[in-house]
Amino acid sequence: MVNIGLLGFGTVGQGLAHILNNKSEATPLKDINIKKILVRNLEKERKVKVSKDKLTLNPQEIMEDKEIDIIVEVTGDVDLSYRLVKEALNNKKHVVTANKALVSKHFEELSLLAEENDVYFLYEASVAGGIPILKPLKDQIRVNNISRLRGILNGTCNYILTKMTDEGLDYGQALREAQGLGYAEADPSSDVKGLDTLRKLRILSTLAFGSAIREEDIICHGIDKLLALDIKLLKEREMVIKLIGEVVEVDGGYQAIVQPKAFKDGSYFTMIREAYNTVSIEGDFSGVLNFYGPGAGMYPTANAVLTDIIDCVMNIQDKKNPLGNRKLENKNEDIRGKYYIRISNWKDYEVDLGGVIEEKVFEDDKDFAIITKEVRLSDILNILEGVENLALVNLED
Ligand SMILES: NC(=O)c1ccc[n+]([C@@H]2O[C@H](COP(=O)([O-])OP(=O)(O)OC[C@H]3O[C@@H](n4cnc5c(N)ncnc54)[C@H](OP(=O)(O)O)[C@@H]3O)[C@@H](O)[C@H]2O)c1
Repeated sequence: MVNIGLLGFGTVGQGLAHILNNKSEATPLKDINIKKILVRNLEKERKVKVSKDKLTLNPQEIMEDKEIDIIVEVTGDVDLSYRLVKEALNNKKHVVTANKALVSKHFEELSLLAEENDVYFLYEASVAGGIPILKPLKDQIRVNNISRLRGILNGTCNYILTKMTDEGLDYGQALREAQGLGYAEADPSSDVKGLDTLRKLRILSTLAFGSAIREEDIICHGIDKLLALDIKLLKEREMVIKLIGEVVEVDGGYQAIVQPKAFKDGSYFTMIREAYNTVSIEGDFSGVLNFYGPGAGMYPTANAVLTDIIDCVMNIQDKKNPLGNRKLENKNEDIRGKYYIRISNWKDYEVDLGGVIEEKVFEDDKDFAIITKEVRLSDILNILEGVENLALVNLED
């Protein structure tokens, strides 16, 4: 029997307990036992029932239990989990986590610590929830050099954009609908401003390119400034907007960005709808590989956590630190492309777009929208400095 110490018993933690309860005869799940569970509130009503004596408010009851082999961290609390995950690895307990904020912030340190202690540090559920992507990615980088990685990595944003595209909803209406369905948090800012996508991109790209690509190395533009007008104007040109996280390798360096991007309607990324996610990687031998599935949710996420637990139990993955030691240079300054730009209250600003306009798309007393020639993003950002209410959408070639 393998004993688990579960840190957190919310959506993912209860999903895990539910799957184990319902598959208690299946191999190797029958060998997995949740011994203790850390929570904040012992009295809280929970959908999945466990005996009360398993719950604790004291993390040390779990950390110091010598019979616990694997710590499964699903609290979402970065500071607490950082302390406990380090303690667990140092005490030679395997760690499985779904916490992208934790992994993104401390990726190099925790990966190294796990290797030094010859234990697993696995985090499949932290990126694209239910999609098995990190294990396949680790397999692919043994053979391939990855030249490009990109994805739709945030279900809330994709849901909002799908509703705006299909039903012509404004951003606020679509966000409220996403909140009503439980996709978006009460405070959705880390989703809609792109931070959640950025953290997942940081994890994926650091693995894929064998070089530390940290949060601060990634340009980040969210979807919170988009209007129904932007969606409509691009739709008239048969283009659909998605929030894309993307890293490409360019001669000796990389470019990393999270941004709204418009694709030809009917192309691959436009088929990823509602709260679904996708990750696309391009290897020199594999070609383009597209991974698709649910980006979040109780059972898909718990399922991803369980696959990591099983790898620990069966000793299947390599315990060697998977992070490479290349030192790729950040070349974000050279990012180029064509952009759709809309400025609201444009008469209040003295913006000189003259040299970059390829086509004027819309103009009334309030809004002004253009499509640029191929330009450097940094030049455009300089021109637009100080303009608050605007949309900037990269156009796929
Ligand atoms: N939900 C998803 O679909 C999804 C998908 C991918 C990744 N993730 C990641 O998985 C993790 C868990 O997400 P979730 O949706 O399950 O969160 P959640 O529903 O908010 O549950 C968090 C659980 O952790 C406990 N907890 C939080 N802070 C704690 C603290 N300081 N001390 C003790 N217990 C604490 C809470 O205790 P109480 O119940 O007593 O309050 C609760 O049981 C997060 O890192 C999230 O980003 C979630």
